[in-house]
Amino acid sequence: MRMQMRIVRWTRRVALGLAIAVAALSAVAVGAQAQEPIRVVSPSGRNVVTVETRKDSLVYSVERDRRKIMLPSRLGFEFRNAAPLRDGLTITGTAQNSVDETWEQPWGEVARVRDHHNELRVSVAETADPRRRFDVVFRVFDDGVGFRYEFPAQPGFESFEIMEELTEFSFADNARAWWIPSDRPRLDRSEMLYSSSPVSVLDSVQTPLTLETRDGSTFIVIHEAHLVDYPRMFLAGPRTESRTLRAALAPHADGVKARGRTPFATPWRTIQLADRAADLAPSVLGLNLNPPNVLGDTDWIEPMKYVGIWWGMHIGTMTWGSGPKHGATTENTKRYIDFAAANGFGGVLVEGWNVGWDGDWISNGELFSFTESYPDYDLEGVVAYARRKGVGIIAHNETAGGLANYERQLEEAYALYRSLGINAIKSGYVIDTIPGGHSHYSQEMVRHHRKVIETAAKYGIMLDVHEPVHDTGERRTYPNMMTREGARGQEYNAWSGDGGNPPEHETILFFTRMLAGPMDFTPGIFDIMIASSDGVPRPPEWARVRTTLAKQLALYVVIYSPLQMAADLPENYEGQPAFQFIRDVPVDWERTEVLDGRIGDYVVVARQERGGADWYVGAITDEEARRLEISLSFLPEGVSYVAEIYADGEGADWLHNPSPVAISQQPVDAGSTLELALAPGGGQAIRIRPTR
Ligand code: NOJ
Ligand code: CA
Repeated sequence: MRMQMRIVRWTRRVALGLAIAVAALSAVAVGAQAQEPIRVVSPSGRNVVTVETRKDSLVYSVERDRRKIMLPSRLGFEFRNAAPLRDGLTITGTAQNSVDETWEQPWGEVARVRDHHNELRVSVAETADPRRRFDVVFRVFDDGVGFRYEFPAQPGFESFEIMEELTEFSFADNARAWWIPSDRPRLDRSEMLYSSSPVSVLDSVQTPLTLETRDGSTFIVIHEAHLVDYPRMFLAGPRTESRTLRAALAPHADGVKARGRTPFATPWRTIQLADRAADLAPSVLGLNLNPPNVLGDTDWIEPMKYVGIWWGMHIGTMTWGSGPKHGATTENTKRYIDFAAANGFGGVLVEGWNVGWDGDWISNGELFSFTESYPDYDLEGVVAYARRKGVGIIAHNETAGGLANYERQLEEAYALYRSLGINAIKSGYVIDTIPGGHSHYSQEMVRHHRKVIETAAKYGIMLDVHEPVHDTGERRTYPNMMTREGARGQEYNAWSGDGGNPPEHETILFFTRMLAGPMDFTPGIFDIMIASSDGVPRPPEWARVRTTLAKQLALYVVIYSPLQMAADLPENYEGQPAFQFIRDVPVDWERTEVLDGRIGDYVVVARQERGGADWYVGAITDEEARRLEISLSFLPEGVSYVAEIYADGEGADWLHNPSPVAISQQPVDAGSTLELALAPGGGQAIRIRPTR
């Protein structure tokens, strides 16, 4: 009996040993082929991606002009209740494809976008049980690389719970990154000031993450595209002094990162590449990785400038809630509508019109009604009045994170808005942790936002989302997803506390946050010191706008948004000749040329009006005064123009003398150069229009 047991044990051990040997042999056999690195190059040949297995794990690397950008970086996943998809991998097949097509945007920073890339599909399998299969698809463009994982439907891999995505970005250079933190337990937002440091010392950071190699030769931006049913990605810093960042995912309340069923595709991970900071924008890599417009007719989607009952709440002269300072009264709204109509604005945003604001609204997200207005606000009357004047009302839907409450009312509210002719909504998600304990950026939040976009499309509604999940190019597929916040905007200049946005802030935003997509920054504050609006001087330690007035104008060109606000109180624009620039500046562009710029220092942008001949230039600087010479060679030859220049006036500077603006005109053409003098914290805005 004992002997028999021993034989059985021995047989088992031999059998097991043999099985391992066979598995190892077959791994070596298949692995030997797989050891041949597979390469895919961008159309110009400058960018090269290599994919290979190393020690049985799958890695990719990126080179540009034969210089290493990403060293071999691991790909894979960890799951709950399943083995990691990480080791024992072999490449089982590849397929290549090339695309060169140009598509048109209904609105944007440029009218036409070229999608020119080479694709490599790498099929991968585990060499041992459970022998799961997946593909990694790389698309290599001249402006960067996108890749994503695809899990085909297969027995034994039907549903999954991802605990970690193991995708690495292993930087060859200890490049300097401009970053805002992520993964902070109670404050997982994007409304923070940027810092910069070498990649080797980064902790958890948000994307887009922009980096400059130490020799200044290459700019790299890590971000993601086509986020539909997956958590938002951030980047986990190297735990030691390495230069490897890892894709990290915002969790559900129970710690699981992503739930899904096969077939399944992750969002694209993107690595944008450029030789100069100025070449990073406009960024179209992410748009090219999103599916085309599914809405068909987009004539109802209209970029516009708007004013609103808004700044008053932030500077304390009005309230959202009921009471003597209630901003959203019928009378006050009509005043804004008159102002909008007189000055060519398409919309009036009304915040605080709906019940739910009284008391601690941030904690009462479940109490907001999105259909019932305060008694002193005649919703139907106001909308009808606006319509008669050719102006639209932008309804405000602050949810304070009350997702269930908002989703319950979504259909009814949007149907009401549609019946009244309201075709735009500004929404908001002011809260750090969504009730139920999941991240502001979890898969559940991403699903919520998608549901809102689709429902809004159904009812013909354009969206401006505050406290959003970051932009991953949704606007290509759903062009009603117009703009969002997702960074520190103008509002921070109205509050006390940390003193508002420093003069360098927007010169960083342009090269970081703005690469993801449009931002509702809300420029155009003319009462820079915010002292006069209620007649009561604000205490000196309070925040104020930290720019010159001319820089506020320049932001209309620099910070792109298809819904662009003139944020100040109407009375602050009265008698201001500089207001003419805000009246003139378009919100939709044919072409965009970034003429010059350095991250955190300055930027100069030229844009041509969509379907028009006018060009606009915006230049902004940080706290340093600057003289910049710009060539107008972007203009067509043989056409005479006049440049209407709004420059920082004599003695202007953001700290002591922010308001002087010097307005002048000058004949120019394609052969002209302009010398721009920017004050400390200043800027310049120019309209260039043909003279005939
Ligand atoms: C924060 C938004 O950014 C701001 O624009 C809005 O006024 C408040 N939340 C209230 O919803
Ligand atoms: Ca905000």
